[in-house]
Amino acid sequence: MATSDIAKPDLAPQGKKRLLWADQDMPVLARIRDRFAREKPLKGLRMSACLHVTAETANLVRTLQAGGADVMLIASNPLSTQDDVAASLVKDYAASVNAIHGEDGITYYKHVAAALEFNPHVTMDDGADLVSAMLFIAHDRLDQLGKSQQPVLDWAKKLTADQRKTRFDSVLGSMEETTTGVIRLRAMEKDGVLKFPVIAVNDAATKHMFDNRYGTGQSTIDGIIRATNSLIAGRKLVVSGYGWCGKGVSLRARGLGANVIVTEVDPIKALEAAMDGFGVLPMADAAKIGDVFITVTGNKHIIRAEHFEAMKDGAMVCNSGHFDVELDLEALDKLTRQKTADVRREVDEYQLRNGKRLYVIGSGRLVNLAAAEGHPPSVMDMSFATQALATEYCVKNKGKLKAAVHKVPIEIEKYVAREKLASMGIAIDTLTKEQEAYLTGWEHGT
Ligand SMILES: NC(=O)c1ccc[n+]([C@@H]2O[C@H](COP(=O)([O-])OP(=O)(O)OC[C@H]3O[C@@H](n4cnc5c(N)ncnc54)[C@H](O)[C@@H]3O)[C@@H](O)[C@H]2O)c1
Repeated sequence: MATSDIAKPDLAPQGKKRLLWADQDMPVLARIRDRFAREKPLKGLRMSACLHVTAETANLVRTLQAGGADVMLIASNPLSTQDDVAASLVKDYAASVNAIHGEDGITYYKHVAAALEFNPHVTMDDGADLVSAMLFIAHDRLDQLGKSQQPVLDWAKKLTADQRKTRFDSVLGSMEETTTGVIRLRAMEKDGVLKFPVIAVNDAATKHMFDNRYGTGQSTIDGIIRATNSLIAGRKLVVSGYGWCGKGVSLRARGLGANVIVTEVDPIKALEAAMDGFGVLPMADAAKIGDVFITVTGNKHIIRAEHFEAMKDGAMVCNSGHFDVELDLEALDKLTRQKTADVRREVDEYQLRNGKRLYVIGSGRLVNLAAAEGHPPSVMDMSFATQALATEYCVKNKGKLKAAVHKVPIEIEKYVAREKLASMGIAIDTLTKEQEAYLTGWEHGT
């Protein structure tokens, strides 16, 4: 077993309770775990997973281990790690975990280097950080590794140029959990640099339709409430991006009585938001009237200097998109006379030179993970069931999938949906022979 780097090993008993509590609400994953334990489809595999280190992820790790895999888990975000869960995974489940809540950029990439050193056959990413590190190394583009990625650079420099080129030849595939990661991977495929197949788990309906919409929807609002203890009813809440996550956030905020305003760049999504009954405005106008701002676009600098300057005194700003680039916090710093960190846990106060105060929640990082506990287990049950089965599919098809971004097979999605319905006690109809013939032929009707 490889080494671990965690903050608080003593918290293992608390972490175990937490992950077992989540497990009760993850019945589909538990079912897969039972089958994996019998069939061992991942026997002898080394897996490096770069995911949010939470109770739900711990249950995915247990499932992969039941299938026979040796798993190393590292954090995909410095603020989402639950130190007690990390401790339990190491102590109670013999996993290697390299993740510390609040770790700095250098430690983050030290952990990425540990995941590479583990020499995985299969990797999992939430944002494509592992795959991009592997590709920069394999293509000898070391100059493109940023300053905080120094530990990865140091690790790569211990290898010869030939070793770098072939080091990841034994990787048979990778799974990607989030929208931003899939976007990056498609760009890698387009540039012809991908060296192994990648399964876009995010793009499975059993992932984004539920996890991004209901999971991010609920937990983003949960993060804002836990951080600020604000009443949502009656507030003007500005949601940037009306994709799967943005729809979920907008719906849940409306349910709590907020007056929701959407900002978009896609005319179809903007129209959908308008017809769903939300206000739609450009950010320049929304900035003047919003009480709470949430970006969830997967894009950068959605809220910029001119928007911060226009905001009302006391406005709160946060992000639930993957990277901490949606709010231009460098521009905000330049407008600021005085910054007071942690006026509440995960809330920083910015006193602007124009006399107004703004509050940034979760340092501009995923607010649902920084200030709450991320997606609830019931929805991660579907995402991680899809992850586990996609991994099995990737292993079974070793050598047959080309180096490209692949869809999750529809049979996997249907299995996950059927099992989830069954666990909820919901039955549905099946097509009659006559209906099947009607839907597959053209002679009937008119
Ligand atoms: N917080 C979480 O736990 C969590 C969970 C899942 C996904 N994500 C992340 O959330 C982000 C959004 O994911 P999604 O699945 O909703 O993506 P999506 O592609 O369905 O939606 C993104 C939307 O943002 C819009 N957009 C892009 N640039 C914009 C701009 N400048 N102003 C306004 N709108 C803009 C796009 O038109 C699109 O409609 C991604 O970064 C994804 O990785 C976060």
